[in-house]
Amino acid sequence: MGEITRRQLVAAGSGGALGLALGGGGGYAFGHREGERSEQAAQEDVVPFHGAHQAGIVTPAQDRLVFGAFDLTAETAGELRELLRAWTVAAVAMTAGRTVGEIPGLPEAPPIDTGEAVGLPASQLTITFGLGASVFERDGEDRFGLAARRPALLTPLGALPGEQLEPQISNGDLCVQACANDPQVAFHAVRNLARLGRGAAALRWAQLGFGRTSSTTSDQVTLRNLQGFKDGTNNLHGDDAQQMGEFVWVSSEEPQSWFRGGSYMVSRRIRMFIEAWDRDALSDQERTIGRFKVSGAPLTGHHEHDIVNLQARTADGEPVIPAKAHIRLAAPSSNGGQRILRRGYSFTDGIDPVTGELDAGLFFICFQRDPHHQFAAIQRRLGSSDGLDEYIQHRSSALFAIPPGVRPGGYVAQGLFSTA
Ligand code: HEM
Repeated sequence: MGEITRRQLVAAGSGGALGLALGGGGGYAFGHREGERSEQAAQEDVVPFHGAHQAGIVTPAQDRLVFGAFDLTAETAGELRELLRAWTVAAVAMTAGRTVGEIPGLPEAPPIDTGEAVGLPASQLTITFGLGASVFERDGEDRFGLAARRPALLTPLGALPGEQLEPQISNGDLCVQACANDPQVAFHAVRNLARLGRGAAALRWAQLGFGRTSSTTSDQVTLRNLQGFKDGTNNLHGDDAQQMGEFVWVSSEEPQSWFRGGSYMVSRRIRMFIEAWDRDALSDQERTIGRFKVSGAPLTGHHEHDIVNLQARTADGEPVIPAKAHIRLAAPSSNGGQRILRRGYSFTDGIDPVTGELDAGLFFICFQRDPHHQFAAIQRRLGSSDGLDEYIQHRSSALFAIPPGVRPGGYVAQGLFSTA
């Protein structure tokens, strides 16, 4: 008896009746069977790990994020494969609300599961894994003998305007995006993967996020970012299969057959100069974004989801949505029809020791099938002309290939290692 649900464990701890003991001396006993209602609630709390695509992309955005980027210390493709295999087994357990190892475990050894999520439900935890370009080539070296299997577009984004990147919080060989409705569940996931991976991978940087800044399905309400604006109104909808096929999933034309059905993730830690923003007049804030603050309606409309009219002019002949407005420059019509699936989170990491201002902003994450013609092309326009640039700065950047989903019994990026 290894994995039990964390809820069962708590029920047991609270004086259970069934008395099913778990291995080792003095184990917990299971408690009452959960009632039908809570059983159903527990099911709704679980986002399936297995599927054609990894969860955490088009599945509804949860409230919290813990993101970890890892450097590989593994030296062979076999060691990398074993790491991904072990991580998959752990991810299957944790996303189902189970522990990653026996509880309580052996008294003489460190517990395999670190324990802080015991008693917490699955909380819609999703764990999404990605591979950086440095897995396939680092300093001109094919370190794992996998260079010939590199996804076609997993190449550096190059310098983009509006950024001042900090290398120590950028890039990485692997990434783990853990999203959940409970921050402790998301933290537990990354912490336990880091622990299991010790010897093969080491955490390079991590970022906590709260308050999703994008709705990713049509039935989610739009929340607000730290500038107080609704963020995600004109996002792609993860439940629109046609849009996802067109903009998010890597198609059957991808030369690397193992990567078909995957996606590319770009992450950007974007610092907001909140104090400057807070001194700006409401009307200027609204012209900077191109939308009304409270309703989220475009400046050409009345309701949040009114169509944005970029052609509308004032009586003086000026565009109603200014030339430098964020939504004009980010709009598909300004970017050759390109769109991205945004799935970011707000963050705050205390005070900037240099300026004494809040170190807060948007941990921007987006998914697409072509990071160069989608994210980078849009950012090239935004970074050079967006009125928002006065209030933000991109400080970290990473690009990851997100392998397709995992079938039951399989493991993440399995096709990368197949010899067929
Ligand atoms: C801190 C930085 C940013 C802030 C505060 C911000 C905020 C917003 C807000 C409030 C909206 C309007 C509501 C909506 O449709 O979602 C919006 C729209 C959008 N943003 Fe951003 N954004 C930021 C960075 C970015 C970046 C880096 C990109 C991509 C390179 C981007 C791409 C978009 C797109 C594509 C839209 C929808 C435009 C449309 O079709 O109407 N944003 N953003």
